[in-house]
Amino acid sequence: MNNTKKYVKKIISKINKCVNIKELNNLKLKYLGKNGSITKKIKNLKNININQRKELSISINIIKKNIIKFIFIKKNKLINLKQNKLSFKNNIDITLSSKNILSGSIHIINKSINKIQKFFSNLGCEILFGPEIENDYYNFDSLNINKDHPSRNSHDTFWFNKNFLLRTQTSSMQIRTMEIKKPPIRIIVPGKVYRNDSSLTHSPMFHQIEGLIVEKSINFSNLKWIIKNFLFNFFKKKYKIRFRNSYFPFTTPSAEIDIFHVKYNKWLEVLGCGMVHPIVLKNVNINSKIYSGCAFGIGIERLIMLKYNLFNIRSFFKNDFRLLKQFK
Ligand code: DAH
Repeated sequence: MNNTKKYVKKIISKINKCVNIKELNNLKLKYLGKNGSITKKIKNLKNININQRKELSISINIIKKNIIKFIFIKKNKLINLKQNKLSFKNNIDITLSSKNILSGSIHIINKSINKIQKFFSNLGCEILFGPEIENDYYNFDSLNINKDHPSRNSHDTFWFNKNFLLRTQTSSMQIRTMEIKKPPIRIIVPGKVYRNDSSLTHSPMFHQIEGLIVEKSINFSNLKWIIKNFLFNFFKKKYKIRFRNSYFPFTTPSAEIDIFHVKYNKWLEVLGCGMVHPIVLKNVNINSKIYSGCAFGIGIERLIMLKYNLFNIRSFFKNDFRLLKQFK
């Protein structure tokens, strides 16, 4: 063992004397290359008598490991030295602190959508996306909102012309989906929607997630269970929830869900839902005597505002670092 230590010391000193990487590589070859002295010793082990072999192989192994380790250390030192010399030559002060590079992060709206998608994927929902430029058939007519229906006015629609518009609700994807898929259907559709409306709680563009389930025996209790569990999963704490009787032309019965916000001291509407109207099912040739459907539309910004106590919906779209940073 003493001899091994001496030998290792000798090699380390040789390694440390190398002044460039080429010399270091040559030294490595000399010991560990194909015909290197240590390699040869390893190959020769099999000819040594069994009693000495064990001790010898341990020594050789120690030597080999040390050579690898110290060559690695020396190599890094030489590389650093080279870089320092270079920067000195180019007048680079490597002691200066580096520029503060801001790293990006996923916007809280997308983060929340991802989280919601995960919840509904676990319930077996497929995630679909639809066009933001819609025609009035998918956005209104097929959803039982015909031309002179009063609720058309409440949508503050951005029209391109008589037929085309920026979709006011993701519900338009209910029809598009049922036209091409046969039940059972379980989908959610996240996306942007547009309404000509602007205030602290309304923005001309905002995000919704539509949900649609069409099956043989889906009922209002199932819908309630889904909504309750979804809200609990999103907020991670128990809020007072209220199912309020409401009206949507494409669902019957319909409900709006309010959450009681302690800070605001009032009920806030967060989503609409209901059982898909038989007329809507008829519009896509689904027999409402065999199948029933439930649907819901979630307003994403509203949920986030509730969860994080935000007061102005516009703050989502200002790209103010102070807000964005909080949701990293
Ligand atoms: N589309 C409705 C809105 O934007 C929300 C909604 C209500 C969607 C009831 C639904 C539903 O699917 O069943 O106000």
